[in-house]
Amino acid sequence: MMQKLEPLRADFPALSRTVRGGKPLIYLDNASTTQRPTSVVDAVSRYYTHYNSNIHRAVYEVAEEATEAYESARDVLARMVGVGDRRELVFVRGTTEAINLVASSWGRANVSEGDIIVTTEYEHHSNIVPWQLLAEERGARVEYVGVDDDGVLDLGDLGRFLDTGRVRMVAFSMVSNVLGTISDTARIVSMSKKAGARVLVDGAQAVPHMPVDIPSIGCDFFAFSGHKMLGPTGIGALWARRDLLEGMAPFHGGGDMIREVKKEGSTWNDLPYKFEAGTPDIAGAIGLGEAARYLAGVGLGSVRRHEEEITAHALDLLAGVPGLVVYGPRDPARQGGVISFNFADVHPHDVAQIMDSEGLAVRSGHHCAQVLMDRLGVAATTRASFYLYNTDAEAEALVASLKKVAGIFKV
Ligand SMILES: Cc1ncc(COP(=O)(O)O)c(C=O)c1O
Repeated sequence: MMQKLEPLRADFPALSRTVRGGKPLIYLDNASTTQRPTSVVDAVSRYYTHYNSNIHRAVYEVAEEATEAYESARDVLARMVGVGDRRELVFVRGTTEAINLVASSWGRANVSEGDIIVTTEYEHHSNIVPWQLLAEERGARVEYVGVDDDGVLDLGDLGRFLDTGRVRMVAFSMVSNVLGTISDTARIVSMSKKAGARVLVDGAQAVPHMPVDIPSIGCDFFAFSGHKMLGPTGIGALWARRDLLEGMAPFHGGGDMIREVKKEGSTWNDLPYKFEAGTPDIAGAIGLGEAARYLAGVGLGSVRRHEEEITAHALDLLAGVPGLVVYGPRDPARQGGVISFNFADVHPHDVAQIMDSEGLAVRSGHHCAQVLMDRLGVAATTRASFYLYNTDAEAEALVASLKKVAGIFKV
């Protein structure tokens, strides 16, 4: 198998550190957060070191440089995800804030008593809880599209919900953070739009890993996070159609989001600033722009191919681990580089702890997806998730470690 991306590892100093008394770190928790290349860290550091100042306000040269860097980061990011109108790309803290923004600003004005908000059984809590809060406030209800035994959404459920004529919003993940399942996004969007519902796509696990052209998806809202795509924490983006953003009330009030403030009331700034109240994470946005530049340089198509190859290799080898239950599609063509698994009688934390002693960083727990855990009939899983810098040798180390766990627990 080719490892064309392996030379990139040198861009990520953390990947050459050791852990647990000298074991090379094998970082397989990329669905949680990724490592950052030196270029991203340097871009953040350059801002703080050389042109630190607030943006959009002052006329002096350093402030102009900061404003220019912040806004050009927006342009680079927009290009990476196919967005032609930069006013439609709002910087937020991440996917969680993006969804809360939509639930609050769009939801309060558009969801009423008896309406239905549809989400799915494999959503991250950030695509469930904001809708539950909204539903409670508005007297609406949340319905969940089921997940079948291969970890794939049952679109029969979606059809049944849409047939009620009461669905106002369909909110789903393009890629599941636990099962890796790639949703049938085109079909979900077309079914939902035909029924007159708005559609929000959670792209947190998609944008970092495959080419995504947001406008061609046909959704109304799209959310993603910087730290899952080599960028800093605390920064991400919400894309929404301009007419929707223009019709929505601000999410937060404060500086920068206003045109004019009088005692009697205020008017709002142009897009996207209407939704960027207060001093934003300037360094984070600059770092995220650099991450988008880095990924565009590698090519998201190459990232996807690389992850597909490693996932295929890992899935092949995992089939030889005694007693291991692997969840999800188990098909590299239908999933991202995320694999969740369990041994019947071994707690996932014990699995992760043994793996940690060998330098493997994997995640154990409910992965902020307790509705999915209930569906799977477990409290937790162990999850390995790959990214562009992972290698076949690391996938092999994962499997060797799991065989050791199987031996220790005699499964
Ligand atoms: C599918 C999905 N949605 C949303 C989130 C929340 O992202 P953030 O914590 O960056 O807001 C995550 C993070 O794990 C995720 O995997």
